[in-house]
Amino acid sequence: MLKYLKKYWLFCVLAPLFMVCEVAMDLLQPDLMARIVDEGVLRSDFALIVHVGVRMILCVFAGGAFGVTCGVFANIAAQGFGNDLRKDLFGRIMSLSFEQTDRFTTGSLITRLSNDVTQVQNMVGLAIRGLVRNGVMFVGGVFMLWRQSPRFALVAACGMPFILLLIVFFLRKASPLFRIVQEKLDGVNHVMQEDVAGARVVKAYVKEDYELDRFDRANDALCRENLRVQTLLAFLGPCMNIIMNLCVVAVILVGGITVKNEGGQTPGSIMAAITYLTQILGGIGFLANIFQTFTRAKASADRINEVTHSDPSVTDGADTQRESARGTVEFRDVSFAYPGTTQNILEHIDLTVRQGETLAIIGATGSGKSTLIDLIPRFYDASSGEVLVDGRNVRDYPLRDLREKISVVMQRTELYSRSIEENIRWGAADADPAQIKSAAQTAQADDFICETQYGYYTPVTESGHSLSGGQKQRISVARAILKPHEILIFDDATSALDLRTEASLYEALRKQDPDSTKIIIAQRIASVRNADRIVVLDGGRIAACGTHDALMAQSEIYRAIFFSQQKEGGAA
Ligand SMILES: Nc1ncnc2c1ncn2[C@@H]1O[C@H](COP(=O)(O)OP(=O)(O)O)[C@@H](O)[C@H]1O
Ligand SMILES: [Mg+2]
Repeated sequence: MLKYLKKYWLFCVLAPLFMVCEVAMDLLQPDLMARIVDEGVLRSDFALIVHVGVRMILCVFAGGAFGVTCGVFANIAAQGFGNDLRKDLFGRIMSLSFEQTDRFTTGSLITRLSNDVTQVQNMVGLAIRGLVRNGVMFVGGVFMLWRQSPRFALVAACGMPFILLLIVFFLRKASPLFRIVQEKLDGVNHVMQEDVAGARVVKAYVKEDYELDRFDRANDALCRENLRVQTLLAFLGPCMNIIMNLCVVAVILVGGITVKNEGGQTPGSIMAAITYLTQILGGIGFLANIFQTFTRAKASADRINEVTHSDPSVTDGADTQRESARGTVEFRDVSFAYPGTTQNILEHIDLTVRQGETLAIIGATGSGKSTLIDLIPRFYDASSGEVLVDGRNVRDYPLRDLREKISVVMQRTELYSRSIEENIRWGAADADPAQIKSAAQTAQADDFICETQYGYYTPVTESGHSLSGGQKQRISVARAILKPHEILIFDDATSALDLRTEASLYEALRKQDPDSTKIIIAQRIASVRNADRIVVLDGGRIAACGTHDALMAQSEIYRAIFFSQQKEGGAA
């Protein structure tokens, strides 16, 4: 991840330099204090006390100024780092295939994008300031201690290994726990994301208590894990304090024994030594803190890398040549099982759709209709067999080229919280108002749009809650029609429309857009009986294929579906 810091190298260099200056000021203090005690107080030299005192105050101010500058620079670097990392990660998440998004889960991706990035970003800020500060404090402190007396340095040297051992011990214990904490956070975000997005369903089913319970469980699990790590780390500070205080006692003992001897330690130098020792060991304590943040950030960095290093499983094909045919789709002996499962959802599909043809797909829910059309824009890749668009295997296309040929209205309509006009224009940024209106007219959406308060500029609330199901579907259809395409795919895109509006829509589509190939998944035979061909899908296999009349004559399943819908229609 260091590459994200490159851009901010100047700040990464300047911040530690200012920090070194601040630490130097801190390190001067005990020495000056020793002089005040030994030369000023003990000899009652008031002028010297004032003189050195003023220098001490100046040092404090200078140190403060250096500290602030360092803090500002370190923050610029850390925030910039976090910003760039988040941007890259978001881009990568956008390029993941459906399968990978399913595998990571939305909740976890959100945690990685928000909390995990923040952890790493905090680490960077702390490292730039803290590592240098405490490193310099440590080396400088030992040096100054040595200058007071080598004996004191020896005492510090005896205490040090114990402290290092403590740090290593605790961090090794804590590091796997931090990963668990982040996973529990995934859990909380998962429930949160589902319930906030699905708040309406929760209310409709009066499931608030149930969902609260589910949230509590996830939240408590997070709390428990956090407590476990924090309890463990709570021991670290006091343990280090004990060692530190033992060292201080040792300094007083060593110094006190020699204080009366000729050439022994002066009271001022003992005081200074104690301060240096506190600074050194405090510095180590702070380093422990940094290493703790580091351990935590390491867990987060690993999780971020998992995403940034997972190459999109659906990638561009290398072949950029133009194809001669336009708008044909062919399935050659295609079978498909969802990644990570063994059950084939599609089996041995052979199907050719000609340019300009309208092909309908009918079948029970779960028969694999949506799965079949997902293979055309490569939302998933066929497990075996080939899918060809315009005579070329879809895997050979650059993804962008392939998807630019295809307009899909998905089964679950997704609208954005923008105006109706922007929603329709989404797939064709440079469309003019007349084109937008014409697409809406074809989709039978123009009438109701014009009746809304601000017409085309009426805002759509989040995920389209302000619109009825049929209105959302028609806006989605208009969006798909407007986007330049050779192949138009409707996945149950008109199921919420009444039969008359639906019939007008298909009639308008035939007139306005005669050239593109249309693949239409429908529940009701009445919706698609005029299609050029109808495919009946049953348990992932093509059970029958032909015109309405031919299927009525030949296909048992088709007739069964037809008559059951006739009965429903008659009853209604
Ligand atoms: N992302 C997925 N992962 C695993 N199984 C899935 C996934 N999506 C759909 N399925 C399964 O594939 C089968 C066919 O689903 P689908 O193609 O959506 O049916 P249809 O559109 O005909 O109702 C279903 O049994 C469903 O459980
Ligand atoms: Mg479906």
